[in-house]
Amino acid sequence: MTPTSIPCADPRAGYLAHRGAIDAAIRRVLESGCYVLGPEVEAFEDEIAASLGVAHAVGVSSGTAAITLALRALGVGVGDEVVTVSNTALATVAAIERTGAVPVLVDVCPDRWVATPAHVAAAIGGRTRAVVLVHLYGNPAAAPAIRSLCDQANVALVEDCAQAQGATLDGRSVGCFGHAGAFSFYPTKNLGAFGDGGLVATDDRGLDARLRRLRAYGWDAERVSREVGENARLDELQAAILRVRLTRLDAMVAARRALSARYDAAFEGLPLARQRVEPGAQHARHLYVVRTPDRDALRAHLALAGVAAGVHYDRPAHRHPGYQASVRCGPLPVTEALADEVLSLPLFPELSTGDQERVIDAVQSFFSARGRTAPGSSSGAWT
Ligand SMILES: Cc1ncc(COP(=O)(O)O)c(C=O)c1O
Repeated sequence: MTPTSIPCADPRAGYLAHRGAIDAAIRRVLESGCYVLGPEVEAFEDEIAASLGVAHAVGVSSGTAAITLALRALGVGVGDEVVTVSNTALATVAAIERTGAVPVLVDVCPDRWVATPAHVAAAIGGRTRAVVLVHLYGNPAAAPAIRSLCDQANVALVEDCAQAQGATLDGRSVGCFGHAGAFSFYPTKNLGAFGDGGLVATDDRGLDARLRRLRAYGWDAERVSREVGENARLDELQAAILRVRLTRLDAMVAARRALSARYDAAFEGLPLARQRVEPGAQHARHLYVVRTPDRDALRAHLALAGVAAGVHYDRPAHRHPGYQASVRCGPLPVTEALADEVLSLPLFPELSTGDQERVIDAVQSFFSARGRTAPGSSSGAWT
């Protein structure tokens, strides 16, 4: 009998785990008669601002909208350049494009797989207006050092925390180090809604006020627009669901960390590279990603064992035909090597011990069949 497939992520399991509270929240909203930007959004904004340790949180329609609006609120527009990485979800770059600015893509550190201060410093030029720093897979990049160099260059810093809800640096949540932090509530994220949603966190009152206008056509309190905005509102159903899920966030992230630690222990001695974490950083373990030059063969082997591994991402942003002409970048050797070698193993809070055991067995059997247990790689980029 073919074993049931183990998914890479399972948002439905997240619903079933808290079904009673989520169903009650949905009913409360449906019965309220208020469905977009109402009391649930306001309460959620207060609750998540407190949990992140920021003064203001603005609910928006997606993580992509959060990045775009944060950049726009910081004054980014046509003629500007915004520095970010190509080794990210395409959404990061799509969000920059929406402002009219040119994305300038830098390479990443070969062991942390995120941009370092040196990468960012080398890319800042006369037209740079902002940096979007991606905490990829939940691994905090060196945000305090990058904020310092942004301040020196008079450039804004937006942290892309879409994959990093729950991650901290020196005890502070990511998203607190930049002028703004952008979060996504896409269903598979650490704090997932059951639809789209996003958030901008900031300590800046003026930025908060401008974001609230930009998310609704540019309207001020009198519904007069003095600048062009868009429709990027968070709805009441998602906010009510997110309020339930926020109360469980710490436990959900702890479960991700425990599962990741178990993978780490089981893969000791296998030729699989993993992401190194900054000193003082706590990884949010949104994705558990291993790196091997045998990626495609390992993925096929896992599929036969009923394990659905993912790839984040096999095509970096600068290799998407729709973006190639509008982004700027030099050679990105680490990014391109990663794209060929990374593999995301199943990771979600409800992953059972038995299913994780099956994933581990399948990974181990792949390498034992090849007679390989000692670290080794064809890629000079491993450290
Ligand atoms: C790193 C990163 N940035 C931005 C986004 C955009 O978030 P959303 O899908 O909510 O627009 C995502 C989500 O896919 C992401 O992973």
